[in-house]
Amino acid sequence: MTIILDGKALREKILAGLKLKIDNYTKKPTLVVILIGKNPASQIYVNNKKKTAEKIGINSIVINYPENVSEQEIILKIHELNKDDNVDAILVQLPLPKHISKENIIKMIDPKKDVDGFSPYNFGQLFSGGTPFVYPCTPKGILLLLDEYNIELEGKHAVIIGRSNIVGKPLAQMFLDRNATVTICHSRTKNLADITKTADILVSAVGENIIEEKMLKSGCVVVDVGIFKDASGRTRGDVDFENVSKIASYISPVPGGVGPMTITSLMLNTVELFEKHLS
Ligand code: GUN
Repeated sequence: MTIILDGKALREKILAGLKLKIDNYTKKPTLVVILIGKNPASQIYVNNKKKTAEKIGINSIVINYPENVSEQEIILKIHELNKDDNVDAILVQLPLPKHISKENIIKMIDPKKDVDGFSPYNFGQLFSGGTPFVYPCTPKGILLLLDEYNIELEGKHAVIIGRSNIVGKPLAQMFLDRNATVTICHSRTKNLADITKTADILVSAVGENIIEEKMLKSGCVVVDVGIFKDASGRTRGDVDFENVSKIASYISPVPGGVGPMTITSLMLNTVELFEKHLS
């Protein structure tokens, strides 16, 4: 029998606990999101983040900039937010317009307010065996989901498709920290199916419908991070859910799997930074 990794249910459980915690604070945590341009997917994500934050008592401020804003203007705003004692958490929504360097921007965020865990300090801590202030949201959400279903990583072969700083790279490190054997595949990987067939746990973060039943071994755990609209406007993931769910032991759906967990992690990270800031 295949078990669905239900991100929505876990989100509700975690957010209910967080809300109770926040209700007991005299001051509320504040998250500031910087959104540049009008990328439709980013607008939806940022809206969802704001709605979720407000539901549980986090102050959420979205600062919108036009597509042609200069890198310098964003950097000045980040300096201002870094100094603002009322701001606990800062997120710059990615992707950025081409004329703005994400490295230049992210490195300006105070690591203590870097709610994505993407700044050089936090990334450096993650990859050098130290402790970052917070862990990146999507990998953290995936681990919360696997833990909820008691899926053990030690000694397992985890295959991750995608090498981004947002998902693939930090997730690989976090899986290694749990003693998994990790393979990262990407767009130049040859004979992808030969590798995915050896996966005990497969995580796909591509954004195209590429994972078919014949690429996987029976009983594997499948985590689908991809999300996009197909030609008919339907929300899809990377995995052929209908057929893969016949052979997987656990599978995360799209929507309703990893997506809600990413936002949940963002809320958890905001509260963690707020608590560290208080102390
Ligand atoms: N764009 C897509 N996912 C993310 C994320 O986790 N953080 C940020 N800042 N931008 C994103």
